[in-house]
Amino acid sequence: MATRLSPAGQYRSRPTKGQHNMLRLQAPLPDRYTLATPEELDKWIAAAKQTLGDGLLILGHHYQRPEVIKWADLRGDSFKLAQFAAENHQATDIVFCGVHFMAEAADILTGDHQRVVLPDLNAGCSMADMADIDQVEEAWDEIAAVTDISRVVPITYMNSSAALKAFVGDHGGAVCTSSNAQAILEWAFERGDKVLFFPDQHLGRNTGYTMGYDESHIQVWNPHRDLGGLDERDVKEAIFLLWKGHCTVHQRFLPEHVAGFRAEHPDGEVIVHPECRHEVAELADRVGSTERIIEWVDAAPPGATIAIGTEIHMIQRLAAEHPDKIVVSLDPLVCPCSTMFRIDGPHLAWCLESLVRSEVVNQIVVDDKTAESAKVALQRMLDIKGAPTAPSKVD
Ligand code: 13P
Ligand code: SF4
Repeated sequence: MATRLSPAGQYRSRPTKGQHNMLRLQAPLPDRYTLATPEELDKWIAAAKQTLGDGLLILGHHYQRPEVIKWADLRGDSFKLAQFAAENHQATDIVFCGVHFMAEAADILTGDHQRVVLPDLNAGCSMADMADIDQVEEAWDEIAAVTDISRVVPITYMNSSAALKAFVGDHGGAVCTSSNAQAILEWAFERGDKVLFFPDQHLGRNTGYTMGYDESHIQVWNPHRDLGGLDERDVKEAIFLLWKGHCTVHQRFLPEHVAGFRAEHPDGEVIVHPECRHEVAELADRVGSTERIIEWVDAAPPGATIAIGTEIHMIQRLAAEHPDKIVVSLDPLVCPCSTMFRIDGPHLAWCLESLVRSEVVNQIVVDDKTAESAKVALQRMLDIKGAPTAPSKVD
């Protein structure tokens, strides 16, 4: 974690520097960047990278657009990117081409001599914003009032604020990503007999089904209703209390899309991300994280036809990298992640040239108290043996 620029606070208090979810605001860029041609931006980014040398590490999530991902020193899914951040001690400036919760995780996992920069502060995640610390604490208290809370293990998806990760760290839980959810849940059930899983209900449900549970074991917790909209008996008997959150990008994929693709390509293969709804996941041939999807497409034989249910930039890149295979979006209407898309050439050039002038813009700083507790939950995830495993239908 980077040197803190403000006093340590409780995780209930808002993170410093105006970076709490939904409160972030990116100032407009200088004309130099907004009016630049793509060629100029490339030239400036290349020059800044060369000047900054080994002191700079650019991390890129698979959903980044081509003009950004081509500059990433390391690419990955959210699990790999967290690992890269934790393992790198050399770079002093880590420019995170991804979304806010990923940059926060990188800040937590890096050393005091390292700074994490997010090129556009508006690159958030609508799913992560569906659960906040006040709601989660309230839910925890309500659950404690009707069941033995010492047997409930809180698990947060990586797509969550540092405050939620801190809560989980302080309450005996762990973080999971889409590549290790099953391993983390198995770990949780060695410690308790019920999980409160947030914020993505679909990852929780898909993983629960893969582990052999069914709908009778699962209840959805609606944070906007008393006792999550459930009755006491439901809360007592549920094995999985799944937060009513979802990804707006992945929730667009529907069973009709699978049926349409299969009608046109009876020998084709359907691969979807576990953030897709269960009705889609159960019709798919494979379900896995962005990293696993890439591995499966790489391994497919020439001539294979593959429909993928995930963000469109990654699908388009896979299609371009595999001209001998047909790789298409499962939804013929494209599904971009509008917040990942906020990171572009102008913002990347701006933050790199600022670093060259020793000006740090858009540093993501998690306060010390939050970072300490969140690190416990992140480290548990990194340490859990068996991770990563995809939630279902793996080879
Ligand atoms: P991965 O963990 O597969 O990278 O997914 C992160 C994400 O935000 C998918 O929407
Ligand atoms: Fe968040 Fe969905 Fe975008 Fe992933 S694709 S970063 S879950 S909004």
